[in-house]
Amino acid sequence: MSAWAANACVQQLQDQPDSVLGLATGGTPLGFYRALVDRYKQGLVSFADAVTFNLDEYVGLDPDNPASYRYYMEQHFFRHVDLLPEHCHLPNGKAADLVAECEGYETAIASHGGIDLQILGIGVNGHIGFNEPGTAFSSKTHIATLAESTRRQNARYFPTPDDVPTEAITMGIDTIMQAKKIILLAFGEHKKPALEHLKSGRISEDFPATILRKHADVTVVYGK
Ligand code: PGA
Repeated sequence: MSAWAANACVQQLQDQPDSVLGLATGGTPLGFYRALVDRYKQGLVSFADAVTFNLDEYVGLDPDNPASYRYYMEQHFFRHVDLLPEHCHLPNGKAADLVAECEGYETAIASHGGIDLQILGIGVNGHIGFNEPGTAFSSKTHIATLAESTRRQNARYFPTPDDVPTEAITMGIDTIMQAKKIILLAFGEHKKPALEHLKSGRISEDFPATILRKHADVTVVYGK
């Protein structure tokens, strides 16, 4: 799964070196970042002209908090490759004006011509980014309230379960759907029911990932 996705990303950058990449965090893409860093070190790819936008960030965490997604990206990807720091975008979960931060994020994506290749994970509840069940398909980047099940899933990254933030800034579902290409990664038996629902469940805001069936270029890669 990770090698396939890394090869697709390398191909994207070979075809278009100034690609805009949409990136994800979590357990699933760790191997993808390792594989991509390997290919960079082998001289197969450069990120010097690429631009990245991450899907989401927790509200209230400093960038140097080890549970923040900015920290994750620095550790697992950014510091290992030749991306320019000013080309690596994540929402700022500590912004004084979070609504303005969301609007600015949308504007920034648009000003780069939109996302060429978006990497996605999927939650067992069908979330994509932090778009939990019930999120409008028309949503743009916004402040999301995390589902309790998502907070429990992510508690492993925090000192105690109570430390998991209750809110995050996330690209909206429409933001994600505007990406030209999407690769959705899912790893492990526990994600199989979600993939089954994605493939054949009713397209409904109750299971946000189902909207991807209306996208023209989505590849689902399953690993076990
Ligand atoms: P995971 O999260 O990669 O940690 O399973 C994926 C997601 O919830 O989107």
